[in-house]
Order: sequence, then structure tokens, then C-alpha cells
Amino acid sequence: MLVERTFSIIKPDAVERNLIGTIVSRFESEGLRPVAMRRSLLSRSEAEGFYAEHSERPFFGELVDFMTRSPVVLMVLEGDNAILKNREIMGATNPADAADNTLRKLHANSIGENSVHGSDSPVSAARELNWFFKGSEVSS
Ligand code: CMP
Repeated sequence: MLVERTFSIIKPDAVERNLIGTIVSRFESEGLRPVAMRRSLLSRSEAEGFYAEHSERPFFGELVDFMTRSPVVLMVLEGDNAILKNREIMGATNPADAADNTLRKLHANSIGENSVHGSDSPVSAARELNWFFKGSEVSS
């Protein structure tokens, strides 16, 4: 098995509904351990930089408004095949398309307010976790 790290966000819609514990518990029960974690109210520049690849998309302004409206929980998750496993646990971006029992099927309000973010590749995981965490803040 390949032990990997991936980057995860519990988004404002889920934090507002007191779902932090529910979501972290799901990750832990499926073998993904938080090895760094911080609750944070993102600035617009943090959110814009994090989602820079979407800056030309029509929903970009709405995405930044949403991600900065109330606190998020930023995490690095570690475990066997963590990147793919996290994406399986989250389900499809649009909750209408997400498989049963995935976090987005269970909790997301809409494609925009979809409760969780997870890195989609090793390159994204490295960029995203380094965007929010210093090396000294991550410990196995
Ligand atoms: P996430 O996995 O965090 O990556 C980019 C985010 O953009 C995505 O989840 C959604 O929350 C958001 N997003 C993607 N498509 C749309 C859309 N059509 N309308 C609004 N938000 C979207």
C-alpha cells in the first residue's frame, strides 16, 4: 500500500451545520488520519489563490464568496492511497451525482455548497497542502 497525504477542507456550509465531528470521524473510521488541522476564516486572497485554476469560470466569484463567508476546517489527511480514498469518501462534486453514503450525498446542499474539498492528484495535493500549512505543522 502507498501511504499518501492529501489536502481536505470542511467547507462553510458543513461547519455552519456543526458537521466537523461527523466528517472527521468518517475520515478516521476509513483510515484517513488528520496529521494537520486548523479552523480558519479564509481571506479573499487565500481563497482566490487556492482556487486560481478556476479563476476564469463563471462561478468563480460565487465560489470565493462562499468559501469566505464563515470558517472552514483545513486538514492534511494521511493514509493508504489517501488521495483516491478521500475522493471516494467525498463522492462526485455535484451531490445530485454522488454515490449513496458519500459525504456529499449525505450532507451537501448543492454543487457550490458541497461540504468538502479534496485534492484530485498528487501534484494538487502537494500544492494545496503547502498553500495552507508549513512543514512544521504536519506531523504523522
Ligand atoms: P471543489 O472540489 O472544492 O473544487 C472547485 C469547486 O468549485 C467545487 O468543489 C464546487 O464547490 C465549485 N463548483 C464547481 N462547479 C460549480 C458550478 N457549476 N457552480 C458553482 N460552483 C461550482
